[in-house]
Amino acid sequence: MNAPRGLETWQDHLEAALPRDGDQPLIVRVFRETSSTQDVAKSFAPRRALVVSDQQSAGRGRLGRQWLSAPGSSVLMSVCWPIDNLATTHDWVSMSAGVAVARALEQIAPDAVVRLKWPNDIQVGGRKLAGILIEATNYSFIIGIGINANPEACTDPGLRPRTTSLAELRRSVDRLDVIEAVYAELHRALSHADTNRLLEAWRSRAALGETHTFEHRGQKITGDIMDLDPDHGLIVRRDSGEIIMLPAATTSVVS
Ligand code: BTN
Repeated sequence: MNAPRGLETWQDHLEAALPRDGDQPLIVRVFRETSSTQDVAKSFAPRRALVVSDQQSAGRGRLGRQWLSAPGSSVLMSVCWPIDNLATTHDWVSMSAGVAVARALEQIAPDAVVRLKWPNDIQVGGRKLAGILIEATNYSFIIGIGINANPEACTDPGLRPRTTSLAELRRSVDRLDVIEAVYAELHRALSHADTNRLLEAWRSRAALGETHTFEHRGQKITGDIMDLDPDHGLIVRRDSGEIIMLPAATTSVVS
């Protein structure tokens, strides 16, 4: 791989390299610093856009959590994806984005066994490599992706042992290659959507059969992961035998 290219070249490179559908425009913006790439991407809705930043002053994760990362140490990107079909659900986008990011990271780090921890963590060896945040606005989904490029990405010393990074999985990482691969896979998953294939790809990387405790609307729920309903969320069998469905937007994994 070539030496990493400077941030000032990223926007032109991405504008030229990223896939498009026909003459549908794609807005690309690259920042040294911004509050959150989610907010910038939202401001472009309902147009298709990719927003990347080297650093965020107010990065956020799922369920209102902060997303902290040291400058230059992560891939921080948000994609604004307008929807033509109003029946497209948060859970479907969540599944598709998870599969897309996993596939891209498998291309970047071919020896890594990439797993999807529902709803939106990407893990290698039980450690978090990337997280995905899905938000919705103005007939668009905003898909935010944070990938640890090197070990400094996680600034919380307490959390660091539970994370990994691309640099730990391969010798050198060019973040521009990562952004290109992730966007290309997202584009593929979201625009040529074959739900059955995406579901198969999700299942092959997911923790089917494992027992977990979830929190949903203030209630703790323990059960085995049975499967995923692409439009309604995780299918879990509780200890009592009852089968329930947990939506990605409102559920967190406790353990
Ligand atoms: C999570 O694991 O909770 C999801 C984390 C998502 C973080 C990314 S970084 C780029 C984009 N901008 C944000 O403010 N958040 C997402």
